Amino acid sequence: MCGIIGYVGDKQASDVIIAGLKLLEYRGYDSAGIAVSNKGKIKVAKKEGRIVNLENHLKEEPLLGNLAIGHTRWATHGKPNDANAHPFIGNKRKYAVVHNGIIENYLEIKEELMSEGVKFSSKTDSEVIVHLLEYLDNGDPIATILKAVKKLKGAFALGIIHAETPNTIFAAKRDNPLIVGCAGGEGYICSDINSLPQSLKKVIVLDNKQFAVVKKNSVELYNFLGKPLDKNYVELSPEEWGDLKGYECYMDKEICEIPDALTRAIKNYRENKSFEKIDKDYLKSLRRINIVGCGTALHAGLYGEKLIKKYLPDIDVYSEMASEFRYNPVKVDEKTLTITISQSGETADTLVCQKMVSELGGKTLTICNVPTSSMVYYADYNLQLCAGKEVAVASTKAYNTQDLVFAMFIFDLALLRGSISQAEYDNLMKEIDALPKKAQEAIDVRGEIEAFSNKNFRKKSVFYLGRGIDYCVAMEGSLKLKEISYIHCEAYAAGELKHGTLALIEKDVIAIALLTDYDMVDKMYSSLAEVRTRGASIMVITPFADEMKLKEISDYLIEIPKVHKDLSAVVSVIPTQLISYYIARAKGCDIDKPRNLAKSVTVE
Ligand code: AGP
Repeated sequence: MCGIIGYVGDKQASDVIIAGLKLLEYRGYDSAGIAVSNKGKIKVAKKEGRIVNLENHLKEEPLLGNLAIGHTRWATHGKPNDANAHPFIGNKRKYAVVHNGIIENYLEIKEELMSEGVKFSSKTDSEVIVHLLEYLDNGDPIATILKAVKKLKGAFALGIIHAETPNTIFAAKRDNPLIVGCAGGEGYICSDINSLPQSLKKVIVLDNKQFAVVKKNSVELYNFLGKPLDKNYVELSPEEWGDLKGYECYMDKEICEIPDALTRAIKNYRENKSFEKIDKDYLKSLRRINIVGCGTALHAGLYGEKLIKKYLPDIDVYSEMASEFRYNPVKVDEKTLTITISQSGETADTLVCQKMVSELGGKTLTICNVPTSSMVYYADYNLQLCAGKEVAVASTKAYNTQDLVFAMFIFDLALLRGSISQAEYDNLMKEIDALPKKAQEAIDVRGEIEAFSNKNFRKKSVFYLGRGIDYCVAMEGSLKLKEISYIHCEAYAAGELKHGTLALIEKDVIAIALLTDYDMVDKMYSSLAEVRTRGASIMVITPFADEMKLKEISDYLIEIPKVHKDLSAVVSVIPTQLISYYIARAKGCDIDKPRNLAKSVTVE
């Protein structure tokens, strides 16, 4: 986790770093810090909590200079406090370091350095890096850093400054994202391509085991053996995401962007010929698909699993959360495809699985929102979401596009393998084309959801219920509610309730049922009757709002547009996203930055 940034140029570096850290705050917000180098001296300031604490501190005690590195932290090793905040500075004050990642052998290195008399001031794994640099220092920072990175086990994106090397940032990467660039007399390093100024126009996305020396007017690139490398530039997209454009928060903005995101995803999938780029003979030979993801992305995977079972009956499908997938025996052969799903493309749990499958010789396809991410880079094939930048920690529009793109891939595969006819395929495509408009209609009922939320935000317990695809959406709705409103919430397959969980249903509990498959109306009615009898209030989210049974059983009925039942998830999830948003708002929660979480989880 964590975000790192570095600047060298003519501006006051602390102003640039604070602005950049604000854009990186989604990666963690337990503490923030800065190290500024000026006239051969490095000074450090760090503060527990949000960037604004550091910003206020710098107003009182400015750090002047044109070269700096900064960090925003999501705590892993060591409590979130000032001492454990980055940057770390060596005892000789020669080097300062910011780190994103985990140093797996830090205890070993720490012990070795302590036996040499080195003093430590934090409980973090990262601090060993700076002391190791000073311990190995031979006066040549490049040689010293290259020596140090070889000793580090684990993952890192590093930003380093050296007191005796003016106007220079050193950057090194293994397994965590790191981007560098320079233009117009300014050099940058950063964890995220979208947190860099558009003025850079083009940047270098560092590959594994690469090292960069960034100055105002130049970038040099090396491998960890010190061999100079050619630079491959990536154009910065003109996407503007630091702006709320009048919305109250990013989650609200991103929910409202769902129809446009869907339109873009459909257009890109077709125009970019995403499916055509995958080897046809291999796709025809497939016998098994593994699906891997975390959180919201996993829920999109579970939806895809249901579609594969229906549309590709001769393919065995196995989906698993990434943090478990890697510990189970994995079947990978030439007839298996492993699909990773991720908004960021950097989630460590998922990335590790993707790499594991590649190492076992299996083919991988990633469904991902960030084209410059590690998952896209390492996968054999990729399908882009084109959802646009997602800033809120709670994932919304990425989920809608993950469902959509996964469904488009499955329908193409089914047509290729002959398990659906051209007419069935054409009909599904028509249904897909209608999704952006229907998503907008689902957003338009937000007033009713706001009223429901304002009435019920004090509830202690909520249950989401569904069957089939609706159950997958129930899981996503439940995660979202827990994540940003801190209300206990469970998702249950409606039929399973009576096998134990019904014991928890009582007055003051709310059950929210998703019902998009008409064939399930009677069955769902029975499940809801069991809930009603125990005193819970009921909300039903359905396109069948005219059904007498549903009117009779529910306290709140949210009508959503009718969508092909196999594509329903793309739209039916919207009221659940809005429920969590409005409940969190009514409770006064920090919607975009929920406690204990971060947007991009780059540690296992
Ligand atoms: C969703 O609201 C969460 N913030 C989280 O579950 C997220 O989906 C998960 O961490 C996976 O992230 P990814 O899509 O970037 O891989």
